[in-house]
Amino acid sequence: MTDQDPRPPRRPRYKGTHPRRFVEKYKELAPERYAEEQAKVAARGHTPAGTHRSIMVDEILQALDPKPGETALDATLGYGGHARELLTRLLPGGRLVGLDVDPLELPRTEARLRALGFDEAALAVRRTNFAGLAKIAAELGPFDLALADLGVSSMQIDNPARGFTWKAEGPLDLRLNPQKGRPAADLLATLDAPALAELLVENADEPHAEAIAREVVGREIRTTRGLAECIRSALRAERMEDDDVKRAMQRTFQALRIAVNDEFGVLDRFLAQLPGALKPSGRVAILTFHSGEDRRVKKAFQQGLRDGFYAAIAPEPLRASPEERRANPRSTSAKLRWARRTG
Ligand SMILES: C[S@@+](CC[C@H](N)C(=O)[O-])C[C@H]1O[C@@H](n2cnc3c(N)ncnc32)[C@H](O)[C@@H]1O
Repeated sequence: MTDQDPRPPRRPRYKGTHPRRFVEKYKELAPERYAEEQAKVAARGHTPAGTHRSIMVDEILQALDPKPGETALDATLGYGGHARELLTRLLPGGRLVGLDVDPLELPRTEARLRALGFDEAALAVRRTNFAGLAKIAAELGPFDLALADLGVSSMQIDNPARGFTWKAEGPLDLRLNPQKGRPAADLLATLDAPALAELLVENADEPHAEAIAREVVGREIRTTRGLAECIRSALRAERMEDDDVKRAMQRTFQALRIAVNDEFGVLDRFLAQLPGALKPSGRVAILTFHSGEDRRVKKAFQQGLRDGFYAAIAPEPLRASPEERRANPRSTSAKLRWARRTG
Protein backbone atom coordinates (compact mmCIF):
# COMPACT_ATOMS: atom_id res chain seq x y z
CA MET A 1 0.00 0.00 0.00
CA THR A 2 1.28 3.49 -0.83
CA ASP A 3 0.76 6.69 1.20
CA GLN A 4 -1.95 7.68 -1.29
CA ASP A 5 -3.84 4.38 -1.12
CA PRO A 6 -7.27 5.18 0.41
CA ARG A 7 -7.99 1.57 1.40
CA PRO A 8 -7.75 0.81 5.13
CA PRO A 9 -4.88 -1.54 5.98
CA ARG A 10 -5.73 -5.24 6.19
CA ARG A 11 -6.84 -6.25 9.67
CA PRO A 12 -4.43 -8.54 11.48
CA ARG A 13 -5.70 -12.11 11.81
CA TYR A 14 -6.76 -13.22 15.27
CA LYS A 15 -8.36 -16.27 16.85
CA GLY A 16 -11.87 -16.11 18.38
CA THR A 17 -14.45 -13.31 18.26
CA HIS A 18 -12.23 -10.47 19.58
CA PRO A 19 -8.59 -9.54 19.12
CA ARG A 20 -6.73 -10.40 22.31
CA ARG A 21 -3.16 -9.28 21.72
CA PHE A 22 -2.43 -5.55 21.34
CA VAL A 23 -0.88 -6.01 17.87
CA GLU A 24 -4.20 -7.53 16.71
CA LYS A 25 -6.31 -4.66 18.05
CA TYR A 26 -6.81 -2.85 14.77
CA LYS A 27 -9.21 -0.29 16.29
CA GLU A 28 -6.70 0.82 18.94
CA LEU A 29 -3.94 1.01 16.36
CA ALA A 30 -5.95 3.21 13.96
CA PRO A 31 -8.51 4.97 16.20
CA GLU A 32 -9.18 7.71 13.64
CA ARG A 33 -10.86 5.13 11.36
CA TYR A 34 -13.38 4.20 14.07
CA ALA A 35 -14.75 7.60 15.13
CA GLU A 36 -18.25 6.29 15.91
CA GLU A 37 -17.00 3.59 18.30
CA GLN A 38 -14.67 6.15 19.88
CA ALA A 39 -17.54 8.55 20.55
CA LYS A 40 -19.54 5.75 22.25
CA VAL A 41 -16.63 4.84 24.53
CA ALA A 42 -16.04 8.51 25.45
CA ALA A 43 -19.74 8.95 26.24
CA ARG A 44 -19.41 6.10 28.76
CA GLY A 45 -16.68 8.12 30.54
CA HIS A 46 -13.72 6.08 29.22
CA THR A 47 -10.77 7.09 27.05
CA PRO A 48 -11.05 5.22 23.72
CA ALA A 49 -8.06 2.91 23.42
CA GLY A 50 -5.31 4.25 21.16
CA THR A 51 -6.30 7.87 21.87
CA HIS A 52 -5.71 10.40 24.65
CA ARG A 53 -8.12 12.88 26.18
CA SER A 54 -6.48 16.26 26.73
CA ILE A 55 -6.84 17.62 30.24
CA MET A 56 -7.95 21.12 31.38
CA VAL A 57 -8.11 22.40 27.81
CA ASP A 58 -10.20 25.51 28.60
CA GLU A 59 -8.04 26.48 31.57
CA ILE A 60 -4.88 26.07 29.49
CA LEU A 61 -6.26 28.17 26.63
CA GLN A 62 -7.23 30.86 29.10
CA ALA A 63 -3.76 30.88 30.70
CA LEU A 64 -1.89 30.86 27.37
CA ASP A 65 -4.25 33.17 25.45
CA PRO A 66 -3.01 32.09 21.97
CA LYS A 67 -3.54 34.62 19.17
CA PRO A 68 -3.17 34.49 15.37
CA GLY A 69 0.43 35.01 14.27
CA GLU A 70 2.01 33.83 17.55
CA THR A 71 4.62 31.09 17.97
CA ALA A 72 3.93 28.32 20.47
CA LEU A 73 5.84 25.43 21.97
CA ASP A 74 4.09 22.21 22.94
CA ALA A 75 6.91 20.45 24.80
CA THR A 76 4.88 17.23 25.22
CA LEU A 77 2.95 16.69 22.00
CA GLY A 78 1.45 13.29 22.98
CA TYR A 79 -1.75 12.69 20.97
CA GLY A 80 -1.66 16.31 19.79
CA GLY A 81 -4.95 17.26 21.45
CA HIS A 82 -3.75 20.45 23.12
CA ALA A 83 -1.61 21.24 20.06
CA ARG A 84 -4.62 21.07 17.77
CA GLU A 85 -6.59 23.47 19.98
CA LEU A 86 -3.65 25.86 20.10
CA LEU A 87 -3.01 25.65 16.35
CA THR A 88 -6.57 26.61 15.43
CA ARG A 89 -6.05 29.82 17.46
CA LEU A 90 -2.50 30.56 16.22
CA LEU A 91 -3.51 30.44 12.57
CA PRO A 92 -3.39 32.29 10.31
CA GLY A 93 0.21 33.32 10.47
CA GLY A 94 1.25 31.50 13.63
CA ARG A 95 3.21 28.34 14.24
CA LEU A 96 3.47 25.55 16.78
CA VAL A 97 6.62 23.59 17.57
CA GLY A 98 5.76 20.16 18.99
CA LEU A 99 8.25 17.99 20.86
CA ASP A 100 8.07 14.43 22.13
CA VAL A 101 10.64 11.78 23.01
CA ASP A 102 8.45 8.85 21.99
CA PRO A 103 9.62 7.36 18.66
CA LEU A 104 6.56 5.08 18.41
CA GLU A 105 3.68 7.50 18.97
CA LEU A 106 5.20 10.69 17.57
CA PRO A 107 5.04 9.66 13.87
CA ARG A 108 1.36 8.67 14.31
CA THR A 109 0.58 12.02 15.94
CA GLU A 110 2.43 13.96 13.28
CA ALA A 111 0.56 12.07 10.53
CA ARG A 112 -2.76 12.78 12.26
CA LEU A 113 -2.03 16.50 12.57
CA ARG A 114 -0.75 16.75 8.98
CA ALA A 115 -3.93 15.00 7.78
CA LEU A 116 -5.91 17.75 9.53
CA GLY A 117 -4.15 20.24 7.24
CA PHE A 118 -1.34 21.56 9.48
CA ASP A 119 1.62 21.83 7.11
CA GLU A 120 5.31 22.52 7.84
CA ALA A 121 4.67 26.26 7.96
CA ALA A 122 2.11 25.79 10.73
CA LEU A 123 3.61 22.88 12.61
CA ALA A 124 7.20 21.81 13.22
CA VAL A 125 7.64 18.43 14.93
CA ARG A 126 10.86 17.32 16.61
CA ARG A 127 11.62 14.03 18.35
CA THR A 128 13.63 15.36 21.22
CA ASN A 129 13.66 15.67 24.99
CA PHE A 130 12.37 18.99 26.33
CA ALA A 131 15.49 19.07 28.52
CA GLY A 132 17.21 20.48 25.41
CA LEU A 133 14.84 23.46 25.29
CA ALA A 134 17.53 26.12 24.77
CA LYS A 135 18.69 24.41 21.55
CA ILE A 136 15.12 24.17 20.23
CA ALA A 137 14.47 27.81 21.15
CA ALA A 138 17.64 28.89 19.32
CA GLU A 139 16.48 27.02 16.19
CA LEU A 140 12.71 27.63 16.23
CA GLY A 141 11.94 30.13 19.01
CA PRO A 142 11.65 32.24 21.01
CA PHE A 143 8.04 31.47 21.93
CA ASP A 144 5.02 33.59 22.77
CA LEU A 145 3.59 30.66 24.67
CA ALA A 146 4.70 27.27 25.94
CA LEU A 147 2.88 24.23 27.28
CA ALA A 148 4.10 21.10 29.06
CA ASP A 149 1.62 18.34 29.97
CA LEU A 150 3.86 15.99 31.92
CA GLY A 151 3.93 12.22 32.19
CA VAL A 152 2.54 9.59 29.85
CA SER A 153 -0.31 9.49 27.34
CA SER A 154 -3.13 6.96 27.33
CA MET A 155 -1.73 5.43 24.12
CA GLN A 156 1.54 4.67 25.87
CA ILE A 157 -0.30 3.12 28.82
CA ASP A 158 -2.58 1.12 26.51
CA ASN A 159 0.33 -0.63 24.77
CA PRO A 160 1.41 -3.56 26.98
CA ALA A 161 4.76 -3.80 25.17
CA ARG A 162 5.72 -0.49 26.79
CA GLY A 163 5.26 -1.90 30.30
CA PHE A 164 3.68 1.24 31.81
CA THR A 165 0.93 -0.53 33.73
CA TRP A 166 0.54 -3.43 36.14
CA LYS A 167 -2.87 -4.11 34.59
CA ALA A 168 -1.49 -5.89 31.51
CA GLU A 169 1.27 -8.43 31.08
CA GLY A 170 4.34 -7.02 29.36
CA PRO A 171 8.05 -6.45 29.74
CA LEU A 172 8.94 -4.24 32.73
CA ASP A 173 10.23 -1.42 30.52
CA LEU A 174 8.59 1.98 31.25
CA ARG A 175 10.84 3.99 28.93
CA LEU A 176 9.26 6.92 27.08
CA ASN A 177 11.91 6.29 24.45
CA PRO A 178 12.48 2.51 24.31
CA GLN A 179 15.50 3.06 22.04
CA LYS A 180 17.46 4.82 24.78
CA GLY A 181 18.55 4.10 28.34
CA ARG A 182 17.74 0.95 30.28
CA PRO A 183 14.39 -0.67 31.03
CA ALA A 184 12.99 -0.65 34.56
CA ALA A 185 13.77 -4.38 34.95
CA ASP A 186 17.49 -3.63 34.51
CA LEU A 187 17.33 -0.73 36.97
CA LEU A 188 15.58 -2.93 39.57
CA ALA A 189 18.33 -5.53 39.27
CA THR A 190 20.95 -2.97 40.34
CA LEU A 191 19.19 -1.72 43.51
CA ASP A 192 19.48 -3.00 47.06
CA ALA A 193 16.47 -2.79 49.39
CA PRO A 194 17.33 0.57 51.05
CA ALA A 195 18.00 2.19 47.66
CA LEU A 196 14.72 0.91 46.21
CA ALA A 197 12.77 2.01 49.30
CA GLU A 198 14.31 5.48 49.01
CA LEU A 199 13.40 5.67 45.32
CA LEU A 200 9.77 4.71 46.09
CA VAL A 201 9.49 7.39 48.77
CA GLU A 202 11.31 10.07 46.81
CA ASN A 203 9.40 9.55 43.53
CA ALA A 204 5.95 8.51 44.74
CA ASP A 205 5.63 9.06 48.52
CA GLU A 206 5.04 5.30 48.84
CA PRO A 207 4.05 4.58 52.47
CA HIS A 208 4.86 0.85 52.18
CA ALA A 209 8.22 1.40 50.50
CA GLU A 210 10.26 -0.79 52.84
CA ALA A 211 7.90 -3.77 52.73
CA ILE A 212 7.76 -3.62 48.92
CA ALA A 213 11.53 -3.18 48.58
CA ARG A 214 12.25 -6.16 50.87
CA GLU A 215 10.01 -8.42 48.77
CA VAL A 216 11.22 -7.20 45.37
CA VAL A 217 14.97 -7.07 45.81
CA GLY A 218 16.80 -10.31 45.08
CA ARG A 219 14.15 -11.59 42.68
CA GLU A 220 14.62 -11.70 38.94
CA ILE A 221 11.61 -9.57 37.91
CA ARG A 222 11.31 -8.98 34.15
CA THR A 223 7.56 -8.41 33.64
CA THR A 224 4.80 -6.04 34.77
CA ARG A 225 2.75 -8.88 36.26
CA GLY A 226 5.85 -10.26 37.96
CA LEU A 227 6.32 -6.95 39.78
CA ALA A 228 2.59 -6.61 40.51
CA GLU A 229 2.50 -10.09 42.08
CA CYS A 230 5.52 -9.27 44.18
CA ILE A 231 3.90 -6.08 45.50
CA ARG A 232 0.69 -7.99 46.18
CA SER A 233 2.51 -10.62 48.21
CA ALA A 234 4.49 -7.95 50.13
CA LEU A 235 1.28 -6.18 51.09
CA ARG A 236 -0.79 -9.29 51.75
CA ALA A 237 1.38 -9.77 54.82
CA GLU A 238 0.29 -6.26 55.90
CA ARG A 239 -3.40 -7.27 55.51
CA MET A 240 -4.21 -4.45 53.12
CA GLU A 241 -7.46 -3.92 51.22
CA ASP A 242 -7.44 -4.63 47.48
CA ASP A 243 -7.85 -0.96 46.52
CA ASP A 244 -4.88 0.03 48.70
CA VAL A 245 -2.76 -2.68 47.05
CA LYS A 246 -3.72 -1.32 43.62
CA ARG A 247 -2.76 2.20 44.68
CA ALA A 248 0.62 0.90 45.90
CA MET A 249 1.15 -0.79 42.52
CA GLN A 250 0.31 2.43 40.73
CA ARG A 251 2.74 4.41 42.89
CA THR A 252 5.50 1.81 42.46
CA PHE A 253 5.16 1.90 38.66
CA GLN A 254 5.14 5.70 38.76
CA ALA A 255 8.30 5.77 40.88
CA LEU A 256 10.12 3.43 38.49
CA ARG A 257 8.96 5.38 35.44
CA ILE A 258 10.26 8.62 36.95
CA ALA A 259 13.62 6.99 37.67
CA VAL A 260 14.01 5.24 34.32
CA ASN A 261 13.27 8.45 32.39
CA ASP A 262 15.05 10.78 34.85
CA GLU A 263 11.81 12.77 34.86
CA PHE A 264 12.75 15.11 37.72
CA GLY A 265 16.18 15.81 36.19
CA VAL A 266 14.79 16.70 32.76
CA LEU A 267 11.98 18.79 34.27
CA ASP A 268 14.52 20.82 36.31
CA ARG A 269 16.56 21.45 33.17
CA PHE A 270 13.46 22.48 31.21
CA LEU A 271 12.35 24.88 33.97
CA ALA A 272 15.81 26.46 34.18
CA GLN A 273 15.86 27.16 30.41
CA LEU A 274 12.25 28.30 30.16
CA PRO A 275 12.56 32.06 30.80
CA GLY A 276 15.27 32.28 28.12
CA ALA A 277 13.01 30.50 25.60
CA LEU A 278 10.05 32.86 26.05
CA LYS A 279 9.54 36.22 24.35
CA PRO A 280 8.90 39.27 26.55
CA SER A 281 5.38 38.86 28.05
CA GLY A 282 5.41 35.19 26.91
CA ARG A 283 3.12 32.77 28.78
CA VAL A 284 3.75 29.25 30.01
CA ALA A 285 1.39 26.61 31.42
CA ILE A 286 2.49 23.33 33.01
CA LEU A 287 0.23 20.43 33.92
CA THR A 288 1.59 18.09 36.60
CA PHE A 289 0.20 14.87 38.02
CA HIS A 290 1.97 14.33 41.33
CA SER A 291 3.53 16.29 44.16
CA GLY A 292 7.18 15.77 43.09
CA GLU A 293 6.49 17.50 39.76
CA ASP A 294 4.26 20.22 41.15
CA ARG A 295 6.80 21.15 43.83
CA ARG A 296 9.47 21.67 41.19
CA VAL A 297 7.27 23.82 38.96
CA LYS A 298 6.08 25.89 41.91
CA LYS A 299 9.63 26.53 43.18
CA ALA A 300 11.00 27.39 39.73
CA PHE A 301 8.16 29.86 39.07
CA GLN A 302 8.59 31.47 42.51
CA GLN A 303 12.35 31.77 41.96
CA GLY A 304 11.75 33.24 38.49
CA LEU A 305 9.39 35.81 40.02
CA ARG A 306 11.98 36.80 42.64
CA ASP A 307 14.70 37.02 39.96
CA GLY A 308 12.52 39.23 37.76
CA PHE A 309 12.21 36.70 34.90
CA TYR A 310 8.47 36.38 35.49
CA ALA A 311 6.08 39.29 36.01
CA ALA A 312 3.29 37.08 37.40
CA ILE A 313 2.74 33.45 38.40
CA ALA A 314 -0.30 31.41 39.42
CA PRO A 315 -0.90 32.07 43.12
CA GLU A 316 -2.33 28.54 43.52
CA PRO A 317 -2.52 25.60 41.12
CA LEU A 318 -5.75 25.34 39.12
CA ARG A 319 -7.64 22.02 39.27
CA ALA A 320 -9.95 20.27 36.79
CA SER A 321 -13.66 21.07 37.17
CA PRO A 322 -15.90 18.50 38.92
CA GLU A 323 -17.47 17.73 35.50
CA GLU A 324 -14.09 17.00 33.94
CA ARG A 325 -13.05 14.86 36.91
CA ARG A 326 -16.23 12.83 36.56
CA ALA A 327 -15.80 12.45 32.80
CA ASN A 328 -12.05 11.74 32.93
CA PRO A 329 -10.75 10.41 36.25
CA ARG A 330 -7.14 10.96 35.14
CA SER A 331 -7.76 14.72 35.48
CA THR A 332 -8.37 14.33 39.23
CA SER A 333 -4.69 14.55 40.14
CA ALA A 334 -3.85 17.28 37.58
CA LYS A 335 -2.51 20.64 38.77
CA LEU A 336 -2.05 23.50 36.36
CA ARG A 337 0.41 26.33 37.04
CA TRP A 338 1.08 29.28 34.76
CA ALA A 339 3.62 32.11 34.61
CA ARG A 340 4.07 35.25 32.51
CA ARG A 341 7.51 36.46 31.40
CA THR A 342 8.37 40.06 32.18
CA GLY A 343 7.67 42.47 29.31
C1 LIG B 1 0.31 13.50 28.89
S1 LIG B 1 1.05 13.25 27.33
C2 LIG B 1 0.66 14.74 26.45
C3 LIG B 1 -0.71 14.74 25.86
C4 LIG B 1 -1.00 15.94 24.98
N1 LIG B 1 -0.95 17.18 25.73
C5 LIG B 1 -2.32 15.80 24.28
O1 LIG B 1 -3.23 16.64 24.48
O2 LIG B 1 -2.49 14.85 23.50
C6 LIG B 1 2.74 13.49 27.68
C7 LIG B 1 3.66 13.27 26.50
O3 LIG B 1 4.91 13.88 26.83
C8 LIG B 1 5.97 13.09 26.38
N2 LIG B 1 7.13 13.40 27.22
C9 LIG B 1 7.30 13.10 28.52
N3 LIG B 1 8.48 13.56 28.96
C10 LIG B 1 9.06 14.20 27.90
C11 LIG B 1 10.30 14.89 27.73
N4 LIG B 1 11.17 15.00 28.72
N5 LIG B 1 10.57 15.45 26.52
C12 LIG B 1 9.67 15.34 25.49
N6 LIG B 1 8.50 14.66 25.60
C13 LIG B 1 8.19 14.10 26.79
C14 LIG B 1 5.46 11.67 26.52
O4 LIG B 1 6.15 10.79 25.64
C15 LIG B 1 3.97 11.82 26.17
O5 LIG B 1 3.76 11.60 24.81
